[in-house]
Amino acid sequence: MGRKIAAGNWKMNLTLAEAESFISEFSTGDWPADVEVIFAVPFPYLISLNALAGNRITIAAQNCSDQTEGAFTGEVSAKMLDSASITTVIIGHSERRMYYHETHEILKAKVDQALAFGLTPVFCCGEPLEVREAGTHRHLVSQQIEDSLFHLDSEAFRRLIIAYEPVWAIGTGVTASPEQAQEMHAYIRGVVESKYGSFIAKHLPILYGGSVKANNAKMLFAQEDVDGGLVGGASLITSEFLQITNSF
Ligand code: PGA
Repeated sequence: MGRKIAAGNWKMNLTLAEAESFISEFSTGDWPADVEVIFAVPFPYLISLNALAGNRITIAAQNCSDQTEGAFTGEVSAKMLDSASITTVIIGHSERRMYYHETHEILKAKVDQALAFGLTPVFCCGEPLEVREAGTHRHLVSQQIEDSLFHLDSEAFRRLIIAYEPVWAIGTGVTASPEQAQEMHAYIRGVVESKYGSFIAKHLPILYGGSVKANNAKMLFAQEDVDGGLVGGASLITSEFLQITNSF
């Protein structure tokens, strides 16, 4: 294990008042100094939560535009996030790929936008159930990574965080077994190594996502190639997520 990262993805949940009281309460909690805590929150809450969070919590965006600025109604650019002191952004979550038809090309442009404005992309990959059942999940995941990330040079690539999130495990209560997670994380590291070499591959944080809970986080984080978690549902419950941050 390299870095230790507990990232929450709130998705489209909580009101501003709920979000503020969550972060106020959570920031008084205890977790080891070497565990990085991230909350990816809805756009309108970024600034006020960032002010509340203190320096032990990173407040991140859940998405950014593939464009820099201009006539793109409803979009939020990486440039804007940077100007609002946001340092981290999720890109390519399976819900964005599925419901908003974000293609490899779009995700590639989003990654470029994020990196151009100094943000850390948390790039998500992972296979749907039918792909897992067909046994082609390794191929799909390596394709997702190659298509949206392999145009980057080493300097840019080393700024990424990758999250492996099998779609069949997201919000379903079905978690990948620690062995399944480890197997895919090691595979992803190998894919990265083949292009960027062993130093960058070894230091790349790879988070597991998909029904991470307080009662399974320890087993998952104990795997050699699992550097932490991207947590949806369980990141909405203070005590549950605090336990997860203490599971390394
Ligand atoms: P979940 O979501 O923990 O609720 O399965 C994970 C994610 O979508 O990032």
